[in-house]
Amino acid sequence: MPTVTTALHRALLSWGDEVRRDLPWRRTRDPWAILVSELMLQQTQVDRVVPRYHAFLARFPDPVACADAPAGEVLRAWEGLGYNRRALHLHRAAGTIVDEHGGRVPDDLDRLLALPGVGPYTARAVLAFAFERDHGVVDTNAARFLSRAVAGERLTPRRAQRLADTQVPAGRGWAWNQAVLDLGATICTKRAPRCDLCPIAASCAWARAGLAEPDPAAGSAGTSGAQGAFEGSDRQVRGRIVQALRTGPIEVVRLPDVAGSCDDPERARRIADGLVGEGLAEYVDGQLALPV
Ligand code: ADE
Repeated sequence: MPTVTTALHRALLSWGDEVRRDLPWRRTRDPWAILVSELMLQQTQVDRVVPRYHAFLARFPDPVACADAPAGEVLRAWEGLGYNRRALHLHRAAGTIVDEHGGRVPDDLDRLLALPGVGPYTARAVLAFAFERDHGVVDTNAARFLSRAVAGERLTPRRAQRLADTQVPAGRGWAWNQAVLDLGATICTKRAPRCDLCPIAASCAWARAGLAEPDPAAGSAGTSGAQGAFEGSDRQVRGRIVQALRTGPIEVVRLPDVAGSCDDPERARRIADGLVGEGLAEYVDGQLALPV
């Protein structure tokens, strides 16, 4: 916890309280719901997540319901979110929570980190947002805030995490981290940050340095580089195949057609093999199907 609560901390907390976006996962402290929301939010926009979050929790209200369901059903409920591997991770995490933790999401860092699909960000997000613990969460938005406003320089992952943890005002882990995420999402954006609207511009290390180049956030921990093109990528084909499987099994001979790669049937088969290898699909009697 910070030894002093500075003007920056006070300004960011009070801005956060004032403008906080009303999001469904901010109305609960149910750790399962928070875990679901955080896995969904890892690579998907808030607007797209909201309806899926409600539908998913209606179908799988707790880890037992999720662990008891076939993996394919969890994948079906992931429709529209992309990066389907996350659904599989969530299903496996639910299994571990049931088998090893009595059906309750653990409330300590090491046990959370041991869950499939749960990395440093997600583990701390569960601790901060469900259990209201004073951990600092570091995703791309938080990393921009830390490197620009607090450090004023590029950060390694280890330094970013240490700095994030030391910045949390004692007892305010929930509100602080939500404010940091909101600031990164709406004001301290990657391109063209809205410093004119920023509640902490007066204390921001980078603003004080006249926004000198290079941007401290560039290449910092947790900040993503450019994504490869989606159009024509294996990721696009994988997504197409899993989406088709949601409506039913596919004859293996039809795979190139479904994959949109009729001119390259071997590619469709290779990508399907990859899905099977990862547990996202199964071959059954000459068909590809979601796992049971
Ligand atoms: N992205 C990840 N976690 C979030 C949260 N709790 N609120 C808004 N966006 C988020």
